[in-house]
Amino acid sequence: MKPFNPRRAAIEARINQGLRGQWYAACAAADLKPGKPLGLMLLGQKLVFWRNDAGTAMAVEDFCPHRGAPLSRGQVHEGHIACRYHGVMVDGTGTIQRVPAMPECALEGRKALKAFETHEVCGAIFVYMPSPASPAAPPFAAPAEFLDPAWASFLCTSPWHVNYRYALDNLADPMHGCYLHADSFTLAFGAKQDLMRLETRNDGFLVSRIAQAGENFDWTDMVVTEASVYCRLDIPYPAAAGPGGVFRIIGYTTPVDETHCRVFFWRMRKVEGLARDVWRFLYRAKLEARHWHVLEQDREMLEAMDDDARQREMLYQHDIGVSKLRQLLLNRAKAEIDFETATGPEA
Ligand code: FES
Ligand SMILES: [Fe+2]
Repeated sequence: MKPFNPRRAAIEARINQGLRGQWYAACAAADLKPGKPLGLMLLGQKLVFWRNDAGTAMAVEDFCPHRGAPLSRGQVHEGHIACRYHGVMVDGTGTIQRVPAMPECALEGRKALKAFETHEVCGAIFVYMPSPASPAAPPFAAPAEFLDPAWASFLCTSPWHVNYRYALDNLADPMHGCYLHADSFTLAFGAKQDLMRLETRNDGFLVSRIAQAGENFDWTDMVVTEASVYCRLDIPYPAAAGPGGVFRIIGYTTPVDETHCRVFFWRMRKVEGLARDVWRFLYRAKLEARHWHVLEQDREMLEAMDDDARQREMLYQHDIGVSKLRQLLLNRAKAEIDFETATGPEA
């Protein structure tokens, strides 16, 4: 048995909890309704989200500075969040604005909670989870498709009872498409044998099948930027799926805690004008249920795997994308842990 190595254990624990210094998808924008706070857990930390008077998403720790009641059970007042227990009001910077039960209370004006940067784009709210090494949020680097109006999209998000690493591994593994999803509307085509190719870039890598392109889920573009991880992949659509080009998926995964995550998939098609309306109608009427079926196949398989399946696995050539992704996450986690060891966790 290998001797216990505290640094290695800390690195492994950090990857399992979720890397910090990253932007994560928090929720669909439509789920954060004006006037209604929303409690969410990310990376084992409870946050409360709400919209201020301008409609901008605010996020602070979900913990009332008075006696710790969850602010997510409170109400939005004057753009701030008011605790349900005794009415203490906190603003989007985590500062106590008012203690209504006690005139001229000394707590007013005190910065009491951590606040988190948010960014709303393409129907979702992202939040920056800071690290000691990167306490300030860098600008959110959106996938080009999010900013290009030629792409029509639907966001689909779902909670999965599995560590986020399994969801990421699954996306870095195109070869599972023609097996796990062999009975599906879009992924039933192509050869069941191949080799994989890996092309690395400064911001991630492309893993693709060598002998097949444009038939099935044949490649994944895994984008690992300074402050976010997401993937891009195309699924060829049969003619029955209506007008428009390929079906593109942009995918993000968000660690909730060590055994839960949330997946976010933008299902996109570059299609404009009347054809866009036709596609959107077809998607809602017919295609969406089929895509859910495929996603459920992924969820069910991953949730059925042991939490420590990684300890006994035997990888082969097709897993080069999975290995590369893990190596990138490991390097990030090492850098975080070494920084915190050198400076202290609250530096
Ligand atoms: S616990 Fe929130 S106001 Fe008292
Ligand atoms: Fe899949």
